[in-house]
Amino acid sequence: MGYKLELENISKVYGDGDSSIKVLDSVSLKVATGELVAIVGPSGSGKSTFLSIAGALLSPTEGRIIIADKEINKLSEKKLNKVRMENIGFIFQSANLIPYLTVKEQLLLISKLAGRQTREDEEKAAVLLKRLGLAHRADQYPEHLSGGEKQRVAIARAWMNNPEIILADEPTASLDSERGRMVVKMIAEEVKLSQKAAIMVTHDKRMLDLCDRVISIEDGQLTELAKEA
Ligand SMILES: Nc1ncnc2c1ncn2[C@@H]1O[C@H](COP(=O)(O)OP(=O)(O)O)[C@@H](O)[C@H]1O
Ligand SMILES: [Mg+2]
Repeated sequence: MGYKLELENISKVYGDGDSSIKVLDSVSLKVATGELVAIVGPSGSGKSTFLSIAGALLSPTEGRIIIADKEINKLSEKKLNKVRMENIGFIFQSANLIPYLTVKEQLLLISKLAGRQTREDEEKAAVLLKRLGLAHRADQYPEHLSGGEKQRVAIARAWMNNPEIILADEPTASLDSERGRMVVKMIAEEVKLSQKAAIMVTHDKRMLDLCDRVISIEDGQLTELAKEA
């Protein structure tokens, strides 16, 4: 089976000496192509820490991270940035949209920063906005959008550079359950349709049926939970 993301024996210690805490204790996870894995666990159990390490935003104290067959923890910061930009799409709890950019401009920002604003990017943005039911919002500013719409813009933005790996940290936390479910369905659909790999941290047990596997984090350990129907 092909894996898009492999985490091997990851440990994370914050701080040093007496005040240090070990949040992750040699945990491993492989995410296959086409798979959406849910991470659950109590507050403070290390879910965000784990996701940040998976997305190369945070270095582990120990362990290996393999993205697209590359061991990324050996890369220079410059190359790491390239991996983050090209291989990973992040979705956070709040959409983190830029207030003075329109919906369309949010999607085109990265390519603009990379100095390659093309016709192709514009078309891609239009297709994504249509797919996520946001075509009529393309020229509006975030302040005019509902919470669900903002989160869909964040998703469209994450899809823009067609990342192989999608990492979402409580993407439904600020939404009601119906809109939350819509967001998770969109992630699940993209994972299947485009053969990506995704990890989603969630507090919401009602979303778990949309995921392929459920992993719990507690006391520094990962445990695979049996999926409930
Ligand atoms: N930068 C940091 N420095 C020190 N401790 C941290 C830092 N980030 C998180 N922690 C601690 O690590 C533990 C796990 O945090 P986190 O990964 O945010 O958990 P979760 O996302 O499951 O709520 C918590 O006890 C938190 O206080
Ligand atoms: Mg968290």
